[in-house]
Amino acid sequence: MDKLLIEGGLPLKGEVQISGAKNATLPILAATLLAPGEHRLNNVPELVDVSFMLSLLGRIGCPSLVSKTLRLDTTRVVFHEAPYDVVRRMRASVLVLGPLLARCGEATVSLPGGCAIGVRPIDQHLKGLEALGCTFELTGGYVHGKAEKLTGADITLDFPTVTGTENILMAAVLAEGETVLRNAAREPEVVDLVRFLRSLGARIHGEGTDTLVIEGVANLAPAVEPYNIVPDRIETGTYLIASAITGGDVTCLGTRPDEMENVLEVLRQAGCEISIEGDAIRCLRDGPLHPVSVETAPHPGFPTDMQAQLMALMSLANGESTIVENIFENRFMHVPELNRLGADIAIDGNSATVQGSDSLRAAIVMATDLRASASLVLAALAAEGVSEVLRIYHLDRGYARLTEKLLRLGARVRRASGDERGTSVSLQTMATGFQERTSNAS
Ligand code: EPU
Repeated sequence: MDKLLIEGGLPLKGEVQISGAKNATLPILAATLLAPGEHRLNNVPELVDVSFMLSLLGRIGCPSLVSKTLRLDTTRVVFHEAPYDVVRRMRASVLVLGPLLARCGEATVSLPGGCAIGVRPIDQHLKGLEALGCTFELTGGYVHGKAEKLTGADITLDFPTVTGTENILMAAVLAEGETVLRNAAREPEVVDLVRFLRSLGARIHGEGTDTLVIEGVANLAPAVEPYNIVPDRIETGTYLIASAITGGDVTCLGTRPDEMENVLEVLRQAGCEISIEGDAIRCLRDGPLHPVSVETAPHPGFPTDMQAQLMALMSLANGESTIVENIFENRFMHVPELNRLGADIAIDGNSATVQGSDSLRAAIVMATDLRASASLVLAALAAEGVSEVLRIYHLDRGYARLTEKLLRLGARVRRASGDERGTSVSLQTMATGFQERTSNAS
């Protein structure tokens, strides 16, 4: 497995181009199943998770071709299963459940099981899909779903789950009649999925609020123009913190500042100068870092996907801060590793207390999930000496061209191979078998 060698202590400076959002791309790729034909997508990030999703769609019968614009042919669905070996690698594979049920009336998806950040059940996905008329059987670690007919329903989620909202939404767009989805997720990635579905002919209202109203249509068709995926707000926030933690001056280009109010406000409170010009966000920090206390919450609250990165920043603040994790029950796996880099963080239940220190020291650290890995890279960028961040395949899942982007900002960083073979795979090698098709078989 590859590792990153990072020599810390240099302020990052310059501009970085933000890639398309992973968590918008994955549901949008799944949603292409709803509209047979050729889809074209722009701003698709080069990520291993995207490769996984394309590979899953390839197994379902939908080949893809990657160049500047991704082309994906969903004319035919020959297989309606997301097998264990795919779902175990990427939980977001569960996003094909709703679209396959709507398209084929049948779907088999491996149960995702637990992961490094918690148990993460899919009961809310199933509850919503059942309300639309699906029936499920759970056997052998798989959920087998059937839907003779989907009918609109009034559904209230117990929690505004992001992928749960997306799965139910994707089934509801082809249901007969109206669906009202209450306590729905309001994340910008859900909004982007709604916009994409609308470009296919879906009728949806209320995106960005907690109530989605969906008027089912008989069928959907690929959009004429390529669809542009929204920029990644979590990648943006991570580079802004890279600037803050190194006392740097970084401008993120091609962002959506309106989607990140909460993170920007927290960075201002921490002593950063944040300026916005169009779609660019600049973060400058030349004074001391102030402690801030935050609690993660569904959008528009502080995102759980930025919690680990903020914790790395707070470990260099001038005082004590508290970070409470309210979304996942086990998302503090980065804490012992940050402490190895010299941070002073104590956990009590879902609350972490960070005593800021003057400096961090290089260490060998290992991460267990994507955002935890990002927090270790950030801390290493500020630590004295050369750190090694192991298991960086997590980073390949969610940060496009990370090493290249950091190098451009002046970081001293190098990717090196470890003892085992690397698992990073380029989009090109995973997008397989795409051919021009003229027939319309489905
Ligand atoms: N939950 C349930 N039942 C369900 C669904 C969720 O109890 O049926 C619980 C989960 O166990 C968790 C909470 O609800 O405690 C929130 O989970 P949610 O379903 O909202 O998360 P997700 O849809 O599985 C997406 C992102 C995550 C991000 C969360 C929260 C994608 C592909 N993933 O996950 O992204 O952390 O929303 O915003 O969109 C990441 O990018 O690093 C990442 C983990």
